[in-house]
Amino acid sequence: MQDFDGKTAVITGAGSGIGRGMAEYAAASGMNVVVADVQPDALDETVALVRDTGAEVMGVLTDVTDPAAVENLAAAAYDRFDAVHLLHNNAGVFQGGISWQRTLADWEWVMKVNFWGVLHGIQAFVPRMLAQEEQGDGDIHIVNTSSVAGITTVAYSGPYVVSKFACAALTESVAHDLRAQGSSIGVSCLVPGAVDTRIAQSERNRPDEPPGEAQAPDHWFVAGALGQMTAERGLPPIEAARIVFDGIRNGDFWICTTDAYEEIMQPRFDAMLARQLPPGAQY
Ligand SMILES: NC(=O)c1ccc[n+]([C@@H]2O[C@H](COP(=O)([O-])OP(=O)(O)OC[C@H]3O[C@@H](n4cnc5c(N)ncnc54)[C@H](O)[C@@H]3O)[C@@H](O)[C@H]2O)c1
Repeated sequence: MQDFDGKTAVITGAGSGIGRGMAEYAAASGMNVVVADVQPDALDETVALVRDTGAEVMGVLTDVTDPAAVENLAAAAYDRFDAVHLLHNNAGVFQGGISWQRTLADWEWVMKVNFWGVLHGIQAFVPRMLAQEEQGDGDIHIVNTSSVAGITTVAYSGPYVVSKFACAALTESVAHDLRAQGSSIGVSCLVPGAVDTRIAQSERNRPDEPPGEAQAPDHWFVAGALGQMTAERGLPPIEAARIVFDGIRNGDFWICTTDAYEEIMQPRFDAMLARQLPPGAQY
């Protein structure tokens, strides 16, 4: 897709961070914007920000872990704008910790948002997008937000890493399936490096009681480091959004927000070809 003006974007997790940056960038590119989030006040703030730019905007309160809610999001977007040209399955949460120490509830929460949430988006939107394509609309693109932690591994982050690998694998599978079905719908997997967002405070939207410092020192240790890294070295979300739009225009499948992509990936592939455990990623 080269031209975004007059087209429609749907962005999940748009109440904060990268999703909000995407909503602002989409509006500045002349798009109609449908923003979804589970946190009502944050969603309202994004709607107001986008509305102030003069763009058409609709906010839909959506918990991506609920397939009915995501189906409702798709129905609302198509009702209002008749077509969706850019779907960004972006909502995500961070759950770190040592694999065997984190509870099943910890694992379930992060998998539900970061993997099932993206799958719900694919299942609700792709059939509608295929019908839209059949009616002659050739400009449709899907972006799923994985992470550099979805293509490399590291200690103390098993639940997050596994959820993001699942998201990346799903994204590749969807792209292959669309090609195999003769569709030209574009697909990209966004693998952000550090972006200055509220990702390290993800527990604010956890539906059950998150484990405290005493129960999960392994998680809080790494969440603290993540918070420091994103605050000190993170890109502004609007800059991450610019990189996403450039990547879509370029037809890139992997869209990475860090210049260190090659340095991050090369040691992984070298180790795999040597049949060794890849080194823990340095972000
Ligand atoms: N910030 C980074 O450095 C970084 C790096 C790699 C990947 N990511 C990924 O980028 C995406 C966006 O995160 P961010 O960094 O902007 O963090 P953020 O916390 O600022 O924004 C995430 C948004 O997702 C929403 N959300 C959480 N659970 C939800 C649910 N069940 N349904 C709907 N919305 C929900 C939150 O309310 C929030 O508005 C996530 O998938 C994250 O894993 C971020």
